[in-house]
This record gives sequence, C-alpha cells and structure tokens, in this order.
Amino acid sequence: MPQLIAGNWKMNGTLAGIAAYAAGLRAAAAYADLLICPPAPLIAPLRAALDGAPVALGAQDCAVQRSGAHTGDLSADLLAELGATHVILGHSERRADHGESSAIVREKARTAIAAGLIPIICVGETEAERDSGEAETVVRAQLAGSLPEELAGQTVPGVFAPGVIAYEPVWAIGTGRTPTEEDVAAMHASIRAALRRQLGAAGATMPILYGGSVKPSNAASLLALPEVGGALVGGASLKPEDFLAIASAAPRD
Ligand code: PGA
Repeated sequence: MPQLIAGNWKMNGTLAGIAAYAAGLRAAAAYADLLICPPAPLIAPLRAALDGAPVALGAQDCAVQRSGAHTGDLSADLLAELGATHVILGHSERRADHGESSAIVREKARTAIAAGLIPIICVGETEAERDSGEAETVVRAQLAGSLPEELAGQTVPGVFAPGVIAYEPVWAIGTGRTPTEEDVAAMHASIRAALRRQLGAAGATMPILYGGSVKPSNAASLLALPEVGGALVGGASLKPEDFLAIASAAPRD
C-alpha cells in the first residue's frame, strides 16, 4: 500500500506562485500518494496548473453546515466542487485558535463525508500532557470524541480510505523537534488499537499519518516505523523539492 504524503500549506502560498510549484511537482515520479492542501482559494488554480499530474487536493477546514447564513465559513460541497478530495479537520491550530472541540470536529467530519470528502482527522498532545504521562490518554479521548460512526463499516484501504488519522504532537509542529521513534511507534500502536475498537474492520486499515516537523532529513526513519502510513507535512511542503524528497523516502512495498 503506497503511503500518503500530505502537504498542509496553512495560510501560505500565492496565486502567483502556483505555476512554479506545480511544475516542480509535475517533474516528479510518483513515489507515494501525494496530496496538497493549499488555502481554499488556491485549490482550483493548483488543480488546473497540475494539469492531470497524479496529485490529490484537499482543504484545511470546512463548516459544520452544508450551506446557509454562515459568513466566512467554507462549505464542504463547494470544496468538493473545486476539486478537493480530502479535508483536514481538527488541526491543533484550529482547536487552539478557533476553540474547536472534538464534538465540533466530529460534526465537521460527518458533513465532509456527506459531501463526498475524506476527512483527515488530527489528534495530538501538548508538551505538558506528554510530560505528565497523559499523551496516550489525551489522544484516545480526542479519537473517541472526533470520529463519527459513519467511518465504521467501510474498509477501502489507502489514500481513498473513508477517513485518515493524523497524529501530530502539538509541541512538534513547526518547532523542528520530533518525538523519539519509540514514542511515535507506541502512539501509532495505541491509535490503531483505539481505531479497531471504535470502528471495527474499517479501523484496521485506516491510514495513520505522522505530522510535526517532518523534513527530508528525518522522513525515512519516521515513515519506516510500524503503523505509520504516511506524513502530514507543514513547512517542508512549501517547497516542491523538499516535499518530493519526503515522498521519495516513503517505503515502497
Ligand atoms: P510542520 O507542520 O511540518 O511545519 O511541523 C505540520 C502540521 O501542522 O501539519
């Protein structure tokens, strides 16, 4: 099963920069399944610039509601119409900056699924939670609260699985620090066990991405760990050469 290497541009990227970025990605052989989540206004232009290259596109958030009087919010249906196949939900920056609870993330995931999008649901502990030995408990509670039951019962593996989980320790995001390989492997095993319990067979195959300071120099060792099904990459996804170096480090089964 190819790994999923997903780029999260956050609030970066410009219309003027799209052509050069797309040319950098088009030049690449397909090492892994690639997904780019730019700011929503860039989804359609990036899709056009990629000109059929095998790179999926996603969004970084969507609204709970499907349409209506919700000024400034983004409809999952519109994101799908623009060419998104995936949507990141519950990123720690949204949980912190916009007060998104796991209950809200679950509602958004339901909406995304109804609109035909694949939710990438983010979980991860803060540094204080890790230091106090609560990391696995916190992440399990986030999974219990954030995953809708609609994800159960579907067993399509790989990039088009009905849902994707991203484990991103908050203290590793944008800091250059990463957990030890042992800690990543232990957390991914814990997440897999929770997914199986919550979702049955669907939870056994759902990809679990690692995110937080993934870069070309550490990608090979992180992506080789058991139950790591790919990466969610922030800063290093902004340069196509770094993003592709990470993708080329993914194990090829
Ligand atoms: P980073 O961000 O790779 O810049 O640490 C990852 C993320 O927030 O998804």
